[in-house]
Amino acid sequence: MGCFKFFTLYVSVLFLLTAFRAVVSGDRASDSQIMSDRASLVSFMSGIVSDPGNVLQSWNSSDIHVCNWTGVTCNSARSEIVMLDLSGRSLGGTISPAIAGLSKLIILDLSRNFFGGRIPPEMGSLVELQQLSLTWNFLEGTIPSELGSLRKLVYLNLGINKLSGDIPEEIFCNGSSVLEYVDLSDNTLTGKIPLRDECELGALKYLLLWSNRLVGPVPPALANSTRLMWLDLESNMLSGELPSGTVHKMPHLQYLYLSYNDFASHDGNTNLGPFFSALANSSNLQELELAANKLGGEIPANIGDLPGTLQQFHLDENLIYGSIPPQISNLINLILLNLSSNFLNGTIPTELCRMQRLEGVYLSNNSLSGGIPSALGDLPHLGLLDLSRNSLSGLIPDCFANISQLRRLLLYKNQLSGMIPPSLAKCVNLEILDLSHNGLSGTLHGVAGMSSLKIYLNLASNYLHGALPLGLSQMDMVLAIDLSSNNLSGTIPSQLGGCIALEYLNLSGNILEGPLPSSIGQLPHLRALDVSSNHLIGVIPQSLQASPTLKQLNFSFNSFSGNVSDDGAFAALTEDSFLGNSGLCGSIKGMKACKKRRHYHLIIVPILLSLVATPIFCIFGYLALKSKIRQKLMNFSGSNTVDEKKEDSKEHKFPRILYRQLLEATGGFNPSSLIGSGHFGHVYKGVLQDNTRIAVKVFDSKTAGGISGTFKRECQVYKRTRHRNLMRIITICSRPDFKALVLPLKSNGSLDRHLYPSHQLNQGLDLVQLVGICSDVAEGLAYLHHHCPVRVVHCDLKPSNILLDDDMTAVIADFGIARLVKGGDKGVPLYDSASFSSTNGLLHGSVGYIAPENAEYGMGTRASSQGDVFSFGVLLLEIVTGVRPTDVPFHECSSLHEWVKSHYPHNLDPIVQKALSRCSSPSMSEHLRKACCEVIVELIELGLMCTQYSPSTRPSMMDMANEMSRLKKYLSDPS
Ligand SMILES: *[C@@H]1O[C@H](CO)[C@@H](O)[C@H](O)[C@H]1NC(C)=O
Ligand SMILES: *[C@@H]1O[C@H](CO)[C@@H](O)[C@H](O)[C@H]1NC(C)=O
Ligand SMILES: *[C@@H]1O[C@H](CO)[C@@H](O)[C@H](O)[C@H]1NC(C)=O
Repeated sequence: MGCFKFFTLYVSVLFLLTAFRAVVSGDRASDSQIMSDRASLVSFMSGIVSDPGNVLQSWNSSDIHVCNWTGVTCNSARSEIVMLDLSGRSLGGTISPAIAGLSKLIILDLSRNFFGGRIPPEMGSLVELQQLSLTWNFLEGTIPSELGSLRKLVYLNLGINKLSGDIPEEIFCNGSSVLEYVDLSDNTLTGKIPLRDECELGALKYLLLWSNRLVGPVPPALANSTRLMWLDLESNMLSGELPSGTVHKMPHLQYLYLSYNDFASHDGNTNLGPFFSALANSSNLQELELAANKLGGEIPANIGDLPGTLQQFHLDENLIYGSIPPQISNLINLILLNLSSNFLNGTIPTELCRMQRLEGVYLSNNSLSGGIPSALGDLPHLGLLDLSRNSLSGLIPDCFANISQLRRLLLYKNQLSGMIPPSLAKCVNLEILDLSHNGLSGTLHGVAGMSSLKIYLNLASNYLHGALPLGLSQMDMVLAIDLSSNNLSGTIPSQLGGCIALEYLNLSGNILEGPLPSSIGQLPHLRALDVSSNHLIGVIPQSLQASPTLKQLNFSFNSFSGNVSDDGAFAALTEDSFLGNSGLCGSIKGMKACKKRRHYHLIIVPILLSLVATPIFCIFGYLALKSKIRQKLMNFSGSNTVDEKKEDSKEHKFPRILYRQLLEATGGFNPSSLIGSGHFGHVYKGVLQDNTRIAVKVFDSKTAGGISGTFKRECQVYKRTRHRNLMRIITICSRPDFKALVLPLKSNGSLDRHLYPSHQLNQGLDLVQLVGICSDVAEGLAYLHHHCPVRVVHCDLKPSNILLDDDMTAVIADFGIARLVKGGDKGVPLYDSASFSSTNGLLHGSVGYIAPENAEYGMGTRASSQGDVFSFGVLLLEIVTGVRPTDVPFHECSSLHEWVKSHYPHNLDPIVQKALSRCSSPSMSEHLRKACCEVIVELIELGLMCTQYSPSTRPSMMDMANEMSRLKKYLSDPS
């Protein structure tokens, strides 16, 4: 559902656009109409109690003609108001019934504001209305049946409010059938979908009713809506058989979402075949979601007859049994397959590898048996493979090394045996590796080389033995490591302190010996440490107690000794964290106090006692502990979705930094430390006390739209993304009046500086470097669009937002206007753009780089990943031509890409010649110079592909990442 929300916005805008053109050419009427319209607007304004952006200022000025008021559009004769668009203006208050006085209104858009109260029934008298959008407000009460009188209504969007009660029949059944778009999603509407048999919605293309409390069947009369493209009924309480008869008549269906309802399959919930047959002719079907419906039956062989256009198929959380039929592999365009949490048995069909576009495969929580087919290694784009919680056996195949995109590999809770294949270390993009609760043996040698692992490593509850390899300490991006309940031995290397991102470390239930190194306590983010049930000795290092981040600790059942006080991180601990260490004493609650003076017999007695008590205690203690560990692991390894939710909900606390420290670091925000400015505020460079060189991005509180929105959004993105080509954050400083992000200083500054060096001394970059940079940028964006736990759209890609490291590795920065789209959660952007774009009228993105669909009227605030692809295309063209898209010196063309297009393909010479100067660096071989020329032409072609007018024909960022890496490879070895 990720991008679905964007589609929704996109369509709504298309509607607005078409009608807007119609409106501008409207005709003239009498003066009295405009006077009465003006009076209605003034009354309407009285319902608005908050207008933080002062957008209605013009409404208060008697000098300004009503047709020039913000949000108001008149017909060409300026005699009547035909459109009122106040969307995304952060207005609060109620919608005054006076709005009904605007009797000639064709478009009314009050979406993305803070309007509360009810929808005034008087709106039913706006008989000319064709488009009504009140989405993203706080409207409550029932939907007035009077809206049924709007016979000309084509577009109705009341989604994402707090509306309740039944949907009035009149909306769907008013004798007219021009309605094309109906969105009542995400309210608390009840009752049935009120479409009586005699009613017809013949023009309907989009019906969105997700997240309500609707009951009953899909009304049979919907079958008359043969033009339907999107049907989203997800998350209701709808019941009855899957609506085969209805969808059978819908050849245009693209998205069919029926998940989270109570539908049953045919023949008493035993047969899915008829439903799949009914969809066979929907030759545009892209996504089919049937999750969590208690659907029964087997997966029929005719799943292979579903349209080949299908990209997503969700059948998870049902009661499906039997095996996975090989015919499923006919769905060769499938990108995501989710069959998890059913009762599937048999083996994983090797035919899955025919579906070459697969990016995500979820088969977890079934009863699948047999081995993991090596053929899975032939899926070039596979990013996530979840086979956890099955009965798979045999070895972990070597095949995963071939999959460069693999991010998450979840094989936990199976019966896998043998060693962890060392080839896994070749999966350099791996973020999560969970092989826990299997029968794996051998040493950790195989994982030692996985230094790029990013989120977590879980190998708990296997039979792994041997020492902790030093290689573990190279994992400087990993957040959690769990090696508990194995047979690992030797000492804990102090180098483990090199895993600087570590927040959770569990080494319990092994036979580790020696002291606990104090470097562990110095890990700056560590929050939970469990070393219980090992053979550790010595004192508990002071560094742990001093850690500002540690919250959960378990030292039980070791041989630690010494005095433990209840200061610092230990203040909240009880005796439970220290059980079974007879040598410990101190002020922890429940722990025995340390004796001041030693008496011979006092020492002997405890020793004797402990000799007797330990075995008994160990047995009970160990059992209790075991169940605790297990519980913790269950929480930890859970299902993938749980992990993602946890990842999202847990408040990542960045290490605190004080305003004062920032003041010191930047010389009091001295102008001489200023290295950049933008609409958000300023960026200063500085040096922290530990000599870390930092860039401090200070958000200007005076910026219209408020800093908190931009700041929050940026934090949200940084919190959720980890990739070598994306900026990482050191910390934040947040006070009510001051908000700043602290980022690592990138020594080579922005790409902009290198493309347009201000000093002649500064040699420009050569093509090899530039292609490397573009490849980095493409990788970073592909991660954001395709592999991030939440989908992120950057929205403002341009050379000044691309920063370069010492070694010219590019990182993408500046997520101030990025969009986050929660993958599983209805695709609702976490932060809406309203607060940002409304008040300053900023285009969403930067002039020159912004995609046409985003630049046009009404689309200023909408974003899609295709918009980023467009900006990337402009970047490629800019690099080749050496011309900023903002300085278009072209007479006949309005933009850089049009200008390049006008030269393509026959007149490219002047452009290529100019670009060849990038290939003349003395270090370049003759071979390379030749290759250079080819690459320039390819860059132009790729740039033009990305800047195509129609978003849907542009390539994906993943395609681009592959293309760029191909060019990079070619340049590195042209022969
Ligand atoms: C209203 O806008 C039009 C067109 O932008 C302009 O020509 C006119 O002067 C404006 N009138 C007032 C009163 O602001
Ligand atoms: C509309 O659907 C109803 C119920 O399926 C049916 O009785 C009716 O004939 C259909 N009307 C048309 C025009 O197809
Ligand atoms: C799968 O389960 C079904 C019953 O649901 C059983 O009849 C069949 O033998 C099982 N197949 C395998 C391979 O275990």
